[in-house]
Amino acid sequence: MMEDIEKVRALFEKEINAADNLNELDRIRVRYLGKKGSITLLTRSLSRVPAEQRPALGQKINELKNAAGSMLEEKKEQLKSRAYSTRWDKERIDVTLPGSPYGLGRKHPITRVLEEIEEIFTGMGFQVAEGPDVELDYYNFEALNIPREHPARDMQDSYYIDEDVLLRTHTSPVQIRSMQEQAPRLPVRIIAPGKVYRRDDDVTHSPMFHQVEGLLVDKGISLADLKGTLLLFAQEMFGKKREIRLRPSFFPFTEPSAEVDISCIICDGRGCRVCKETGWLEILGSGMVHPRVLKMSGYDPEKVTGYAFGMGVERIAMLKYGVDDIRLFFTNDLRMLKQL
Ligand code: FA5
Ligand code: MG
Repeated sequence: MMEDIEKVRALFEKEINAADNLNELDRIRVRYLGKKGSITLLTRSLSRVPAEQRPALGQKINELKNAAGSMLEEKKEQLKSRAYSTRWDKERIDVTLPGSPYGLGRKHPITRVLEEIEEIFTGMGFQVAEGPDVELDYYNFEALNIPREHPARDMQDSYYIDEDVLLRTHTSPVQIRSMQEQAPRLPVRIIAPGKVYRRDDDVTHSPMFHQVEGLLVDKGISLADLKGTLLLFAQEMFGKKREIRLRPSFFPFTEPSAEVDISCIICDGRGCRVCKETGWLEILGSGMVHPRVLKMSGYDPEKVTGYAFGMGVERIAMLKYGVDDIRLFFTNDLRMLKQL
């Protein structure tokens, strides 16, 4: 019996020394101290030894049981702290590695072009004015000499909210708001950047886009002033060599009216899908403020004249960055936005 106890002890010690993880350790505990464990069985077999040997053997077995218990505890602590330090080994911090880069934000190309346009015109003495995106029919159409049922309303297919309220289709209502606000003081010299909305959707037309309105009302303003201002703008924006062309056009709120094109820089005037094979891209509408519009907003058309224009910011950005589809500005593809 004494021999059996020593054999069990030796085996236990060997196993516990070899154990290298906590699961293994638990299995050892069960094999020796569990219900059918070797040490437990030794205790049971005591009943089969002669009575006079029992106390001594019993003591030996108890000693083994206690020793096994504390060895298990000790080994457990050891394995736990080792598991901890191996994890640290694996996760060792290499302070020489480069840090993970932050995604740095930047301005949207349309915002940058808007700011550039504003800078050019404020440099010429224009003040920045603003108006609401959700606009009254009165400012968007009526006061611009486009009465209800006027066919010109079809030029700009609109998003109505109710009968009298719509998403503005152009920035021209800010002309009216500015004149009515300051009439009859002169000069009125404003630009009005902002979002506008139309039922449009193709490579050069987006349902939401930006315009910058310009308005100058004063004594003796002529078409030559308009032309000069726009040419100066185009050259500041696109360089001295860029050509512009004025085409007679029609807007109910200007007379005469002209649309202004810039030679297409995507194809260099040869013709492409952006300029619809014409070599030119329309960037703005303009003209001399219609006498009726001046009158409706508090200025005497006998005494003052004015010019106005409304330019498409995305068109300018397309030319500036060589983008051949307006929708690329609004699909929020960072690969594209980062290139610009
Ligand atoms: C107007 O909106 C007039 N209010 C401009 C104006 C102002 C004329 C003052 C006279 C005096 P038009 O609808 O042509 O005009 O639009 C002006 C410019 O906006 C166009 O030249 C074009 O560059 C741009 N544009 C028009 N529709 C879209 C669209 N759906 N997407 C992007 N740009 C557009
Ligand atoms: Mg047009």
